[in-house]
Amino acid sequence: MNEHAQSGERLCLSRRGFLLASGTAVSVTLLEGPLSVALGQGAALQRATYPRARIGRVSQLKADQPVTFQYPWKDANSTNMLVKLGREAGGGVGPARDIVAFSTLCTHMGGPLAGQYRAQHKIVGPCPLHLTTFDLTRHGMVVAGQATESLPQIVLETKGDEIWATGVMGLIYGYHSNLAPRA
Ligand code: FES
Repeated sequence: MNEHAQSGERLCLSRRGFLLASGTAVSVTLLEGPLSVALGQGAALQRATYPRARIGRVSQLKADQPVTFQYPWKDANSTNMLVKLGREAGGGVGPARDIVAFSTLCTHMGGPLAGQYRAQHKIVGPCPLHLTTFDLTRHGMVVAGQATESLPQIVLETKGDEIWATGVMGLIYGYHSNLAPRA
């Protein structure tokens, strides 16, 4: 590989890492040739840095009854909600692709969103601090309120009946990197 190609690969990996950490959605499927290979390897490397954690079972989830879990760290600042929406959702897993998970810290100023799930509209909020509401069927997109960033979505996989957390899309409030412990 020549020097130009090497620097290009480093640039791609760096950009990919930044985008994953900041939660910006990217698609590598539009790219072709050696660059797509480089990005694919970079994505695999970045994903590998997140822990894999079994967080529940498909058969034990009841529709519209969220359960909490901690990820990627075992602390209160990494608290998330796992919920079966009963409606297909972006990033959803399970037979109906309706099982999703999100951080319960509002992206505006960290307001607590636990207990704020609204089953009728598949949203979480309004945040008790400044009333932001997030759409859980659309990757945690802001519906209304002060926040400008989507709610971080936990990347899920299923393995038979098991539900696994494998990554995070978006920056969890209070972290400069999801994979660096908070000071
Ligand atoms: S902290 Fe949630 S809207 Fe401000």
